Amino acid sequence: MSDQQSSQELMSSDCLSGQVAIVTGGAQNIGKAIALSLARMGADGVIVDVDAEKAEETAGEIRDLGRKAISFRTNVTDGGEVSECIEKVVEKFGRVDILVNNAGITRDNLLLRMKDDEWESVLDVNLKGTYYFTKAVVRPMIKARRGRIINIASIVGVMGNAGQSNYAASKAGIIGFSKSVAKELASRGVTVNAVAPGFIETAMTRVLPEEVRKEFQSAIPLKRLGVSQDVANAVAFLASPAAGYITGQVIHVDGGMVM
Ligand SMILES: NC(=O)c1ccc[n+]([C@@H]2O[C@H](COP(=O)([O-])OP(=O)(O)OC[C@H]3O[C@@H](n4cnc5c(N)ncnc54)[C@H](O)[C@@H]3O)[C@@H](O)[C@H]2O)c1
Repeated sequence: MSDQQSSQELMSSDCLSGQVAIVTGGAQNIGKAIALSLARMGADGVIVDVDAEKAEETAGEIRDLGRKAISFRTNVTDGGEVSECIEKVVEKFGRVDILVNNAGITRDNLLLRMKDDEWESVLDVNLKGTYYFTKAVVRPMIKARRGRIINIASIVGVMGNAGQSNYAASKAGIIGFSKSVAKELASRGVTVNAVAPGFIETAMTRVLPEEVRKEFQSAIPLKRLGVSQDVANAVAFLASPAAGYITGQVIHVDGGMVM
């Protein structure tokens, strides 16, 4: 199988028809690929992002697929905005079936030089944002006795990375959070899993100098950087009926970097 073929979408039936999927950070790159994959599987979409214009563009692409979609300019670090967003979603759609906590940022620095606001902003968006959104959907999901929560972590949360102690702490936190909430919600029919991407080709990695890219590539057993669709495929599987017996797991989408 070629690289291109392996990155193609796998779940394309209508298995999520009638379901409502919320994707935070869904305006671009990985979040957008996830939102479109879930829509192609039949889900209606709720795109949450601080970039209102691009979030609405993603929502428009979902509507072009024949699904319903709305976008919210919601900052995941603001508990009030998050509660308001979920209230409006429940008001409009009457349900929340899938939550993908994907919004994330990096503010890299060596620990010696790390500024408090670099530490706090990364922990706030990546970890506190995941906490706020998860907490906000728990009630409607428990009421429905079903739900899928998928949190985007990173292999950096497992391996660590020099210059990313704040990011690594936030992503390791997401993994511990996901496993704990998985245990709390399993008896209510709600599964909670994490996806840990490795090096994914996005705007962030495309600007790297060629020799740095080559260095990354040689450290990856599958010898290529991932693409957003690789991550979206894992999320699509976890959201699908096929993954109903999987909870509390971390799926690495990293070309074999962590094994
Ligand atoms: N790109 C990679 O190589 C890689 C690797 C491992 C993990 N990840 C994780 O995957 C996720 C998506 O990464 P990406 O590369 O697509 O990033 P990206 O920067 O392209 O997209 C992140 C999105 O989150 C939004 N966002 C940021 N702060 C927000 C906030 N406070 N409230 C709401 N939305 C906010 C941004 O506007 C943006 O649209 C992140 O959690 C990231 O940590 C990425």
